[in-house]
Amino acid sequence: MSRQYDLFDKLPITDKPIRFRTPDRPIWTENKSKLIERYLYYFVMITKHGAYIDGFAGPQYPDKHDAWAAKLVLESKPPFLRKFWLCEQDREKLPQLYHLAAACKQKGRAITVVPGDFNRNLDGILANGEITEKMATFCLLDQHTFECEWVSVQKLAAHKKGNKIELFYFLATGWLERAIAGTTRNMQNIRKWWGRDDWAVLATMRSFDRALLFADRFKEELGYKHAHAWPIYNKEAGAKRVMYHMIHASDHDEAPKLMSRAYRKANQPKEDLAEVQQEMFGVTTFQKI
Ligand SMILES: C[S@@+](CC[C@H](N)C(=O)[O-])C[C@H]1O[C@@H](n2cnc3c(N)ncnc32)[C@H](O)[C@@H]1O
Repeated sequence: MSRQYDLFDKLPITDKPIRFRTPDRPIWTENKSKLIERYLYYFVMITKHGAYIDGFAGPQYPDKHDAWAAKLVLESKPPFLRKFWLCEQDREKLPQLYHLAAACKQKGRAITVVPGDFNRNLDGILANGEITEKMATFCLLDQHTFECEWVSVQKLAAHKKGNKIELFYFLATGWLERAIAGTTRNMQNIRKWWGRDDWAVLATMRSFDRALLFADRFKEELGYKHAHAWPIYNKEAGAKRVMYHMIHASDHDEAPKLMSRAYRKANQPKEDLAEVQQEMFGVTTFQKI
């Protein structure tokens, strides 16, 4: 089973078997969107382009729009990401997404709000031909618990032959055991979410091991080169209670390093791009990848 990077070590190119220490600067649940946005800020400075799918895009905290991932990513500057699909099945949240799409519209950008079940709509998004081999593509899967079917994750991973669509997959560590125990009516949902019949084994595992098991599935079953589980904490409990693990899966060797930096810096003012390039890579300009 793979292990975690230590957040404070310099990250190696290949996955190094180290466990997390409790971080000095933990990411709280209300800051999880800032983590995604900061990571993309770093990453698109290399790619200078990109597409973004948000499978579960409606705002989790209706009154805290600075915690809404879709908004933070769409408003991020420079606006290198050009194609967006924002999926949401709750009709009451759709007007906020349409409003956001209209507010962030600009030349050369395509923002599509996709109403309905992400799992049913994904085929259409992938089939429209816009996510090509060369298009750096990211997908946020910020589900509440069991909404993202494993077959959807498989489709995302299989779409590109070269560098796969990069994934930010949220695992509901904080209440997963309770949710599994309470799943007497919705066995089908949990089976689709896990993608296999042996989901009951998850209830017997420690949450850290479960997160590692997920990260391993992204590598071993889906073929990602890197997959790591980043803890997202409950603020009231301090850095003691993990609410989510964000499984970050990527084929890029730079990706884990950039996520490590994003994790440490997400709550601080944004650095100048040249500063990041110099500090992390010892260069001031990047070639496109
Ligand atoms: C945890 S929230 C997403 C939070 C959001 N990423 C943010 O930054 O605030 C999950 C969202 O997914 C929506 N949802 C649940 N099941 C869905 C499905 N099958 N397809 C699309 N959206 C779904 C919910 O209505 C909710 O708005």
